[in-house]
Amino acid sequence: MIPRERMYERYRNSSPASGALYQKGTESLLGGTTRTSVYFEPYPLYMNRGEGAYVWDEDGVLRIDFLNNYTSLIHGHSFGPVVEAVANQARMGLCYGAPTTGEIQLAGILREQIPSVEKLRFCSSGTEAVMYALRLAKAYTGKDKVAKFEGGFHGAHESVQFSFGPGLKYTEGLDPIPTSAGIPSAWAEDVLILPFNDQQTTEDLIRRHHGDLAAVIIEPIMGSGGVIPANREFLVSLRSITKKYGIVLIFDEIMSLRAAPGGVQGLFGIRPDLTTMGKIISGGLPLAAFGGREEIMALLDPRGKGPLIPHSGTFNGTVLATAAGAAAMNHLTPETYTKLNDLAASLAQGMEKLFNGLNVPGSVTVGGSLFNVHFTDRKITTFRDVLTGDREKLSRFFFGMLHRGVFLASRGMGCISTPMTEVEVAAFLQAAEATLIEDILGE
Ligand SMILES: Cc1ncc(COP(=O)(O)O)c(C=O)c1O
Repeated sequence: MIPRERMYERYRNSSPASGALYQKGTESLLGGTTRTSVYFEPYPLYMNRGEGAYVWDEDGVLRIDFLNNYTSLIHGHSFGPVVEAVANQARMGLCYGAPTTGEIQLAGILREQIPSVEKLRFCSSGTEAVMYALRLAKAYTGKDKVAKFEGGFHGAHESVQFSFGPGLKYTEGLDPIPTSAGIPSAWAEDVLILPFNDQQTTEDLIRRHHGDLAAVIIEPIMGSGGVIPANREFLVSLRSITKKYGIVLIFDEIMSLRAAPGGVQGLFGIRPDLTTMGKIISGGLPLAAFGGREEIMALLDPRGKGPLIPHSGTFNGTVLATAAGAAAMNHLTPETYTKLNDLAASLAQGMEKLFNGLNVPGSVTVGGSLFNVHFTDRKITTFRDVLTGDREKLSRFFFGMLHRGVFLASRGMGCISTPMTEVEVAAFLQAAEATLIEDILGE
């Protein structure tokens, strides 16, 4: 395996402008950035232009962008209809302290695509969408406890700051492990950790705790945790047991919405009580949404006696973002999803051939057009399988791919965008082959 110092040296030599910006950035920003996930050692790459499937860094180096701002740019960069919609709107005003036709239009598109979403509201981030969905569930049921899955990522709200990410000491007993400092221990008492894709244990735990549980929240495709699709039977059983005990089932489809028209719930024909939405629905601007059963969402209704849950947010459903979101969503047909998913499947097959041919233990998990590279010989169906991955090899892979013109998440996650074709997939595989041979198997 290429020594880490040599790998860093190669990186530094090819990205002097990013290195200089990092130095400048750290004068005011911790780690030179404002987002933990984009930071990596020795310093992150600073980007300055994107077009279609490609991005250019500050040194003018072009790469294929398989990250797409952590899966949000389903049409890649500067998609014509989105740019036009944003430019037209910007000339008419950037935001107003009043409702607009833009939010009605995007809400209509989402409601039509996701039948379980009878009513919805917009907010500015996925974190907020999850926070409101959980608050609605607690207010609706009069209970306080939330169940989430080990490895599941739902943003930064306290309720869900437990048991995700690779760096924690996970216990056999599924104890909630805080992922952040500053989470008061009382929050841990109101969270139950469940094992993803393990129907029997999940049902047993829900049965045991049902009297306290307001909500069960799940990513139908575990995204940040390693792109692990939930089995259909598992989701069906979750729907059935939560319904039986009057627990609000929340599908966090912020990432999985790109898997099929109407998300995974559309694909499997399952109706959660609430859904959180984000990433692709905004066309690349900051916007997210939450919605679901009218009876639950009614707690936000400002009419009559006034809302039981006030919903604030200076930029909720802001008009530039709804214009961009509507333009992006209106350019997705069932055929588009099929094309994206086929390309992801083709990438995974190509990688499997490489892993087998080169005798490197590894695999690529796929959920719709999302994928994640893993260095383990385990078949990956749970988060614990992801944890068996070799993180040193993954780091070599990430830097090797960067060096050879492919931009991914440092944890090995990527996705397909609509401007991509077999050409970009072939380029990925070519870069991967060279990386495996030279940087992982080589000295
Ligand atoms: C499934 C899921 N939920 C919630 C979030 C949080 O969204 P945001 O980063 O917009 O706060 C993310 C972000 O990656 C996500 O993937």
